[in-house]
Amino acid sequence: MEIRLLAPPADPVFLPMTFPAYRHLLTVEVGPKLLGEAGSPPVQPVALGAFLGSEAVGLALLALPLGERETAELLSVYVVGEHRGKGWGKKLVQAAETVASNASFASLGVVWTEGGSGSQWWAKVSQELGWGPPERRTLSVLFTAQEALRFPWLDRFPVREGCEIVPFVSVTREEMEALKVSQEKSPWIAPDLVPWRYVEEGFEERTSVALRAPEGIMGWVINHALNAQWLRFTCSFIRKDWGRRGRILPLFSESIHRMVEAGFTLASFVAPVRHPTMVQFVEKHMAPWAQQARWTLGSTKKLQHQPQWVTRAG
Ligand SMILES: CC(C)(COP(=O)(O)OP(=O)(O)OC[C@H]1O[C@@H](n2cnc3c(N)ncnc32)[C@H](O)[C@@H]1OP(=O)(O)O)[C@@H](O)C(=O)NCCC(=O)NCCS
Repeated sequence: MEIRLLAPPADPVFLPMTFPAYRHLLTVEVGPKLLGEAGSPPVQPVALGAFLGSEAVGLALLALPLGERETAELLSVYVVGEHRGKGWGKKLVQAAETVASNASFASLGVVWTEGGSGSQWWAKVSQELGWGPPERRTLSVLFTAQEALRFPWLDRFPVREGCEIVPFVSVTREEMEALKVSQEKSPWIAPDLVPWRYVEEGFEERTSVALRAPEGIMGWVINHALNAQWLRFTCSFIRKDWGRRGRILPLFSESIHRMVEAGFTLASFVAPVRHPTMVQFVEKHMAPWAQQARWTLGSTKKLQHQPQWVTRAG
């Protein structure tokens, strides 16, 4: 068996060997890491095929980011059933490390779902290969529209007097400009939760809402349709010093009712650990009623740069 870099485009026989969300990367050409995902950063995909003679028996898929040059990402590893347990999965990981190292990346990272397929294998292999310990990255919940309608906080918290919840699409250019100016003067919005990027990148218009106060826009819940049935709550934020307990809940309540009206039957919400209040919110106010709540874990391996020109002596 040998491992080879796949020339673009990779043979379609490799398509089932990675996640549907990454299959477009098998063109092995620069493109967004995720299709249909506004703002998904461009990456150079690298596909490593494992072959037994001419038969394709495994695949490791990597994404080399074009902008930030620190960490490459190992997206998936697969070995066909009858060839498992012979060390090829581990060899594919080692080959991926070599590719990232030769491309001058300082580290290689991987993200997976706790308890998901391959996680026991990865626990063993990553330890053997000297990867860092797993760290929690996000807590994600998946819930149906019916489950959302049973959230005990739904409709329980009124909107603050003098304020109104409006469709995000109705936020004016002037209001958005005012937000930018106020953020520049004295930052109060977490950088990854600023709303203006979605004006350009797009959002689900029927369900995304904003909180309009006399002083300006103070909060937002911005969503994306993953398909006709599935809504993702992408970006939610409310000014910290604004109001009291339950302050973002009226926005979520409104958005959930709109989700039901728009015919979405499923929703997901992802809380990154860098936003601890969001994680607490999900743990306490969504997870107990959601059909699924799972942590994603990540680990990285520091790479030693191996210049390609090194040749063996003798
Ligand atoms: C996970 C997968 C890639 C492993 O490939 P593989 O070629 O069977 O793995 P290896 O033979 O290199 O395994 C290395 C070691 O892990 C062990 N191992 C393999 N599968 C394991 C599992 N499910 N649980 C625990 N250990 C496992 C092997 O026995 C081997 O141990 P050893 O070194 O003591 O002999 C393969 O099973 C697969 O393609 N699964 C479906 C896709 C998947 O889950 N991919 C991972 C997430 S993207």
